[in-house]
Amino acid sequence: MSTLAVLGASGYTGRLVVAECLRQGHHPVLIGRDPTRIRSSFDSDVEVAAIRRADVGDATALRRALDGVDVLLTTVGPFEPLGRDVLDAAIDTGTHYVDSTGEQPFIHWALTERDLPARDAGIVAVPAAGFEFLPGDLLASLAAGAVAWPSEVHVAYTVPSSGRTARRVSAGTRRTIAALLGRPGLAFEHGELVEEMPFESRRLAWFPRPVGPRHAAGIPGGEALTVPRHVADVRTVRTYLAVPSWKAEFGQMGANLARWAPARRAVTRFLERGGADPSPEVRAQTRWGCVAEAEGQDGVARAWAYGHDVYGLTAVGMVAVAEGILASQPLAGVTSPAAMSDAGELLDVVAARSDLRWSVTRPEPDIPT
Ligand SMILES: NC(=O)c1ccc[n+]([C@@H]2O[C@H](COP(=O)([O-])OP(=O)(O)OC[C@H]3O[C@@H](n4cnc5c(N)ncnc54)[C@H](OP(=O)(O)O)[C@@H]3O)[C@@H](O)[C@H]2O)c1
Repeated sequence: MSTLAVLGASGYTGRLVVAECLRQGHHPVLIGRDPTRIRSSFDSDVEVAAIRRADVGDATALRRALDGVDVLLTTVGPFEPLGRDVLDAAIDTGTHYVDSTGEQPFIHWALTERDLPARDAGIVAVPAAGFEFLPGDLLASLAAGAVAWPSEVHVAYTVPSSGRTARRVSAGTRRTIAALLGRPGLAFEHGELVEEMPFESRRLAWFPRPVGPRHAAGIPGGEALTVPRHVADVRTVRTYLAVPSWKAEFGQMGANLARWAPARRAVTRFLERGGADPSPEVRAQTRWGCVAEAEGQDGVARAWAYGHDVYGLTAVGMVAVAEGILASQPLAGVTSPAAMSDAGELLDVVAARSDLRWSVTRPEPDIPT
């Protein structure tokens, strides 16, 4: 059996990825800067191949830790400061790569600056194989495939809230949000990438029942970067988060305010103070939904998915993508889940391992009276 390695194995998401590797019958190599902390994160009888020490700032140790590894799965974030050396180590050692980033600037850097080196090294690298933005990338491919000449794709996520958002978000995710504060995102508009602040654009997103239509505001998604690579001739790709309009107004105001350093520092302190990582109960109760709407010459198609537990989905998605790389040996380079595999097949694998459910629908066109 091929060898998977998990970097960040002592972290919140990393522990879930290790557990998912074990569930699928792998004996992963666990990598991190503190082997004692890694060991204490798991029962003493878990069957792992090895525990190896490597700080991401130590290029030599990182490359040594990848010896004999076929696919590296990394959850060490924020990726903008911590992830670049890791992808470079994977490229240098000829190790396939999958990560949990949701940071658009990192995804952009990987796709534009490391695609050719990854091709030359013969490796497949898939950033953003977690909740953000695996479902959107796959659903976009399916929706676009259901219409003729798709020109626009709009992807919307919802995590309907019951209780405090902070309870549902890990400390690592909060640190990552803080690292992105005040930065504009990229949307793909009329065939080119344009900058816009989070929450600036708005749309009515059509989620399947019981959620139904929701007001949604623009966020810097991975889809703007990945979907144009696998949906030929698409002109516009945007990502949104379903939020009531008053929250979107606050979000937009906050995003603009965060350009100002003192405001950014205040929000960062607030995010860093947040509570404990989400408990298994909170994770299990956290619902999510994602819908991709493609507009083509013959009308609109919607592909949607929903389930519970965004962190669980991240772990399942990352391992499924890693296995997909090994099984189907896609073209080398930095790529996305839908570009490296059949979107429906990959969603079926994730659905078999989680409570994700998905479908594609074509709403009846309006008949003029
Ligand atoms: N896209 C998505 O939907 C999604 C879902 C989940 C997570 N994420 C992202 O994944 C990242 C991790 O989140 P998390 O909640 O798992 O965070 P976390 O619990 O803080 O875990 C971070 C891990 O990184 C390790 N680490 C930090 N600095 C390191 C270094 N210099 N060298 C080696 N290892 C280092 C930590 O090791 P120590 O234990 O030694 O500190 C820990 O294992 C975040 O960026 C988050 O936004 C994204």
